[in-house]
Amino acid sequence: MSTQRKRTVVLISGRGSNMTALIAAASDPAFPAEIVGVISDKADAAGLGIAKARGIATQVISRADHGSKQAHDAAIDAALVAFKAEIVALAGYMRILTPGFVQKWQGRMINIHPALLPAFKGLDTHARALAAGIRIHGCTVHFVTSEMDDGPIIAQAAVPVMVGDNADALAARVLKTEHRLYPLALGLVAEGKARMEAGRTVLAHFADDADNSTSVVMAPDPLREETDLEHLARITP
Ligand code: GRF
Repeated sequence: MSTQRKRTVVLISGRGSNMTALIAAASDPAFPAEIVGVISDKADAAGLGIAKARGIATQVISRADHGSKQAHDAAIDAALVAFKAEIVALAGYMRILTPGFVQKWQGRMINIHPALLPAFKGLDTHARALAAGIRIHGCTVHFVTSEMDDGPIIAQAAVPVMVGDNADALAARVLKTEHRLYPLALGLVAEGKARMEAGRTVLAHFADDADNSTSVVMAPDPLREETDLEHLARITP
């Protein structure tokens, strides 16, 4: 198994809590991806220390050290190649990547966004969700394409908006769910169960039983206890 695990590099800019969740999931040798490196565009990203403490190679590639956005992305690309990366996971990476870079890694680069896309692309999603008065919020993992927060969706998780929530409370509730969703989605991509084809995500059917007599579209193990549809249907408030 270990030789087939997909070599994954995580790109961060800050706190790194999603990165930490991916590292934790990949510490299980049965997980289909291994985290071989973490790259940050910020030398002071808190996530760097966390990755180092877990024995993961880290690299800082800052924009200020490069003359243009293209040169910056070329340096990141060179680092990814040196890591022999097969998958790139953006986890709070706060820069828009150049089209050439995105094109090169398309289908192999994924991102987590703290909203149910296509709603609330961009920043400040929780405050905007509260201002809009929505009752169901959530998070999305998607393949990265050249339009920001616009690529084909791999997985989503819904989170209720509670009466009295402020942006911080809602963000904390969504973040907890992000930490479950991102490892699930990375696992799907690493196993080839979620692939990007012709601008869409193709999800494999998951064999439910060893004899393959039944299959379901989505019931990966980490969420299996919640696959009861009535359980999944949440009504708020
Ligand atoms: C997360 O909310 C993620 O969805 C968004 O940026 C935030 C990063 O947080 N893209 P962390 O660095 O993973 O803690």
